[in-house]
Amino acid sequence: MNRRVFAQLLALGGSLGLLPATAAQNNETDDEESADDSKPNTIESAVKVTDFIALAKSKLPKATFEYITTGSCNELTLAENVAAFERTQVLPPLLRGVSKPDPSTTVLGQKIRFPVMLAPVAGQRMFHPQGALAAARAAASADTIMGVSSSVLNSVEEVAAASSGPKWFQLYMPKNRTVAKQLVKRVEQAGFNAIILTVDLGEWKDSDHRNKFGVPKDMLYKHLKDIGFPVTPKMTFDELVNFNINAWDLGMTWEIFDWLRNQTKLPILIKGVLRPDDAEKAIAKGVNGIVVSNHGGRRLDTMPASIHRLPEIVKTVDGRVEVMLDSGVRRGTDVLKALALGAKAVLIGRPYAWALAANGEAGVAQVLQMFHDEFVNAMASSGCQTVAEIDSSLLVG
Ligand SMILES: Cc1cc2nc3c(=O)[nH]c(=O)nc-3n(C[C@H](O)[C@H](O)[C@H](O)COP(=O)(O)O)c2cc1C
Repeated sequence: MNRRVFAQLLALGGSLGLLPATAAQNNETDDEESADDSKPNTIESAVKVTDFIALAKSKLPKATFEYITTGSCNELTLAENVAAFERTQVLPPLLRGVSKPDPSTTVLGQKIRFPVMLAPVAGQRMFHPQGALAAARAAASADTIMGVSSSVLNSVEEVAAASSGPKWFQLYMPKNRTVAKQLVKRVEQAGFNAIILTVDLGEWKDSDHRNKFGVPKDMLYKHLKDIGFPVTPKMTFDELVNFNINAWDLGMTWEIFDWLRNQTKLPILIKGVLRPDDAEKAIAKGVNGIVVSNHGGRRLDTMPASIHRLPEIVKTVDGRVEVMLDSGVRRGTDVLKALALGAKAVLIGRPYAWALAANGEAGVAQVLQMFHDEFVNAMASSGCQTVAEIDSSLLVG
């Protein structure tokens, strides 16, 4: 096993079947928020987003739960993503006469009910039989946008048919540009509203190596076929895996944006930006939006928290394109903090993956409602009637 290749495939959304899926049982492991001592036994008793961790754990095979929950190497970036939000303090002004704030906003011209969107998350059919179809329905009911991973394990047409809500397609680039081109056309035809190009590749998670985490053959076969690769049902599992290893372009440069711009009129976002010079290059390439992200601490460990990188990037971008953020958003106050530091909206990954595993569409809807209610409370407590009133004066330092 070439660990480097393995890691790169993980970057493409969950190893995509480099190894056979394990039939692991639910062993006890530390989860992300180990200090959490109020884990509920039922969906009904869940009061906060992280309550879904224990619920997801009780539903999933150990390997799948850990695929969702863990981070890269020593998980320092994973922990820092959450801790950096916790350390950022709010200093709300008093008596501003706000009782019913309006949390709605727009992102790339699309109105959403509140500034929380679903990040692209691979492998959703492994978390729940309805997979991305359930998540898409929940996002549409909540009036927000769903980012749909290339590796979600449902085809773009299936996800499009599941709901009429706004969707952005997250592209991992096939090496075969004919396949890539056809995929982009299908995304357009299916009515997606934007394309997110994820450029921070290189997922490296000890738990996935330990668990030999992989996608079952039927899902891997469907996935590659859905993307448009010429696979055949007669391929052995090893052949499929080898094909998969060679399918993706892991050596992209900034020119990829020129290629993509020639294929589509849809807005293009870049996901994975942490450096101002990269934000500048992305703008020079004509991107329509930037997602500040460290891939939820799943990629290169010891990278800084996204929320720490946000102010410098917002300053560099200086309003030329919209800036969004993900990684570590767990509470409504985190949403307020990200907006105060200049993000237009945030995306959540693990929170809805846990909820999907725990209770399908209803679980994702419940998590989105929790974010909505907590954010509205944070706005009211900070005296902000609209999201436009949220600024850095609300934060300490
Ligand atoms: C299980 C899982 C799978 C993911 N798959 C993808 C993917 O296919 N493409 C992508 O761009 N990001 C992927 N991500 C990263 C998310 O889009 C997002 O950047 C990250 O989850 C945000 O951090 P959070 O989990 O702390 O909210 C994945 C994240 C998780 C948890």
